Amino acid sequence: MGVFEEGRSAVITGAAGGIGLAIARACLSRGMRVTIADRDGERLERAAVALSEAAPGRVAHAVCDVSDAASVEGLRDAALAMHGPVDLLVNNAGIGRASKPWGDRAAWEATLGVNLWGVVNGLGAFVPGMIEAKREAAVVNLGSKQGITNPPGNAAYNASKAAVKAVTEQLAWEFRQIERARLSAHLLVPGFTFTGMTAGDATEKPAGAWTPDQVAERMIEGVEAGQFYIICPDNEVDWATDRKRIAWGAGDVTEGRPALSR
Ligand code: NAI
Repeated sequence: MGVFEEGRSAVITGAAGGIGLAIARACLSRGMRVTIADRDGERLERAAVALSEAAPGRVAHAVCDVSDAASVEGLRDAALAMHGPVDLLVNNAGIGRASKPWGDRAAWEATLGVNLWGVVNGLGAFVPGMIEAKREAAVVNLGSKQGITNPPGNAAYNASKAAVKAVTEQLAWEFRQIERARLSAHLLVPGFTFTGMTAGDATEKPAGAWTPDQVAERMIEGVEAGQFYIICPDNEVDWATDRKRIAWGAGDVTEGRPALSR
């Protein structure tokens, strides 16, 4: 019995919109039960209502700030109470903020708090229960190409995603030590995906960008195929000339290289 079967339970963080919401939709379309979490209560509520219309009785939601361990434990308790043992955890919540390698302490703390501590808090709250349940289960953490290629412009984000890659590799190693646990760990690396995080002022998806729904389907395909790195291959969006992304980054990126002077 696979993870994406009818009646199985998924928890997805940062799922009020973007990639997380698309993953929730994809899980529900396979008959799963889903708990969505986000720190933005209003958008979360709207998302839960819309999802419930298509899948009555199979959607729970919990306001949760993933950077706060107690809040993630609250999410776990809510998910267990509503849907029983958790078979899929998607640590998806993330933020991208402009930051330099020095200073910007508030940006560093916010970014690492959500992107790195959010993942570690998720593992702390859910993995012991997954081990105990002795059912097939999977953890998907959201990495980024930026955590691998380290392009200029956003030091804290790149560092946080590089750290998530390291944590996920360690998680996979730990899972392999546990006999007959049937647990798997995956790093999902989306190509540039058109969401609230990346859209800026744009209202239309740039040519070549992924849609959140495509990323969600790619994730399921990758988990089912047993891939550790689930890569959404690069698309045609040009990193250097995509002004929206430069605006989202540090703003001093010229032709993909750091500007030495202005
Ligand atoms: P998004 O901004 O559309 O959605 C992120 C969601 O996380 C939002 O609903 C937000 O309210 C929530 N969130 C933020 N901080 C939170 C916290 N502390 N606790 C709970 N929820 C919180 O972003 P998108 O694009 O859907 O990103 C999802 C994940 O995919 C992120 O981890 C991001 O870094 C990663 N990613 C996105 C790419 C893209 O091109 N959009 C590319 C590579 C990775």
